[in-house]
Amino acid sequence: MATKDAASDNGQLSEIASGYQFSGETLKLGVAMADGQPHPDVQVSLPMSMMNRHGLVAGATGTGKTKTLQHMAEQLSAQGVPVFLADMKGDLSGLAAAGEANEKLTARTESLGQQWTGTGFPVEFFTLGGEGTGVPIRATVSSFGPILLSRVMDLNATQESSLQLIFHYADQQGLELYNLADLRAVIQFLTSPEGKEALSSLGGLSKATAGVILRELVGLEAEGMDAFFGEPEFDTQDLLRTAQDGRGIISALELSDVASKPQLFSTFLMWLLADLFHDLPEVGDVDKPKLVFFLDEAHLLFNGASKAFLEAITQTVRLIRSKGVGIFFVTQTPKDVPGDVLGQLANRVQHALRAFTPDDAKALKATVSTFPKSGYDLEKVLTSAGIGEAVVTVMTETGAPSPVAWTRMFAPESRMAPAPEAVQENTGNSPLMTKYGTVVDSYSAFEKLSGQGASGQGAEQGMGDGAGQASGGNDDAGAPAPSDENGGFRPYGEQTGWSQDGSGQSGEGGAAQPSAADRKAAERAAREEAARQKAEERERQKRNEAIMRVGTNVASTLGREIVRSIFGTSSRSRRRGGGGLGGLFG
Ligand SMILES: Nc1ncnc2c1ncn2[C@@H]1O[C@H](COP(=O)(O)OP(=O)(O)OP(=O)(O)O)[C@@H](O)[C@H]1O
Ligand SMILES: [Mg+2]
Repeated sequence: MATKDAASDNGQLSEIASGYQFSGETLKLGVAMADGQPHPDVQVSLPMSMMNRHGLVAGATGTGKTKTLQHMAEQLSAQGVPVFLADMKGDLSGLAAAGEANEKLTARTESLGQQWTGTGFPVEFFTLGGEGTGVPIRATVSSFGPILLSRVMDLNATQESSLQLIFHYADQQGLELYNLADLRAVIQFLTSPEGKEALSSLGGLSKATAGVILRELVGLEAEGMDAFFGEPEFDTQDLLRTAQDGRGIISALELSDVASKPQLFSTFLMWLLADLFHDLPEVGDVDKPKLVFFLDEAHLLFNGASKAFLEAITQTVRLIRSKGVGIFFVTQTPKDVPGDVLGQLANRVQHALRAFTPDDAKALKATVSTFPKSGYDLEKVLTSAGIGEAVVTVMTETGAPSPVAWTRMFAPESRMAPAPEAVQENTGNSPLMTKYGTVVDSYSAFEKLSGQGASGQGAEQGMGDGAGQASGGNDDAGAPAPSDENGGFRPYGEQTGWSQDGSGQSGEGGAAQPSAADRKAAERAAREEAARQKAEERERQKRNEAIMRVGTNVASTLGREIVRSIFGTSSRSRRRGGGGLGGLFG
């Protein structure tokens, strides 16, 4: 596997040797390769003080990305830095158990001059909404906010901003949105006869769109997603802990069935980041990060993301640095990460890429072009690098990129395989279980609107039975009035306009029909589609106007409203006594 050009290798080697001399603490990544051989005297490392300049670990499947992440997490923990990681395949649970030496591993570590001792690390295991083993992480609907929720519900832009108006309404009316039942109750109210005036007072929110959102919401609940929302809400400060021995606690979010709900999981990760951002003080540049956040399988975060969602990510990544948080994305190709985000990832560990197809070749070229100039033929290095090898460049302490270094990565000292027994044991012993283990259902929008004192469970039963147009008295205009048990909910078929809202859902149209009728139906559908588009455009305009009307000082309030909706609404700020983000974004 040696490259032909020993001279350029050697030139590169001495450049690397001097380019990776750092004065502060570092993460040791591995040793430089030249002529296909590791050079233990030339170490490649990453300054701890530059961890908040974020990073990317990329490479084809099976090339060593997760092991790189694992070893980085170990060193951060060992140096007292808390780590958060999303464990998509369950293999990172091995961090909690000591690795066991074997012949192959020993040969590797010896050839790298790595002092290797099998070591387990302090790991706290989390799950989303209590699926699987771990401390359950939940968010309230209000702090999750309309933009993230729109992503989970796969809403289009029209529906997304309508949901923003609904949140705004709930906020104004003091209707706490803790769980999905709360949000459902508010939308049911707005679409009920009693909610008519409130709905029209909101301007840009049409009943039809509210109906679509309601239906999506009911769908979420039917999929069991209500387990992810509610109280007690996870306090992200709990990610910033150190163990008694001074090591940073590694918080591992176990998401091994991520494939089943990629949108939900990735959106939750974004919420965690946004929440951290919201709560952490500014610290500027620090010697050591407060927390390093690793997002394995990061493409899940970006696939099909709305503009608002992408902006939220970009903004968070940009601003969270000065709060001492580093974010490392782990994914197959840099192409998975939008340019605006990629441009902010100063530390790069690029494992091998494949070049089987023309697309692969294009991706390879694009990847190479993102690296600083070097003596390597990077296309060649990247297609010939072995498993557990990578091309590295980091931000040096002076803020310049370090020389590109073909590196054989050190091996993790913890177990390179899942450790299910540690997941069980650590979760069983976790003090966080008392804090988050049991769901609380407090008095909130659902109870207020349905006039119930107790939990939201009643509504779930009431929903399917199709009973009733909202009854209830004719109370103060525009104010939420207690309605009947069903909160004014009507069965799907009775809601008008749903199938016309471009949600991609088909209407209740007939089943088997003759083909002439089919043609007619198609024509009608086309007409309806045109009408729908027109109506949507009108609605969008109305809605934009309505959003602009929201609040007093339009320009700054709009910015704040939107950011607030991503980073938490005022009801949440009240709960935590937080000051909101006005100062930053106003
Ligand atoms: N630094 C390393 N030291 C020792 N072995 C390694 C190292 N990196 C990778 N390996 C070996 O390669 C295998 C695959 O590595 P890893 O699981 O990290 O790949 P990956 O890039 O995350 O793959 P995927 O895309 O499938 O998640 C590991 O199980 C391990 O045997
Ligand atoms: Mg992996």
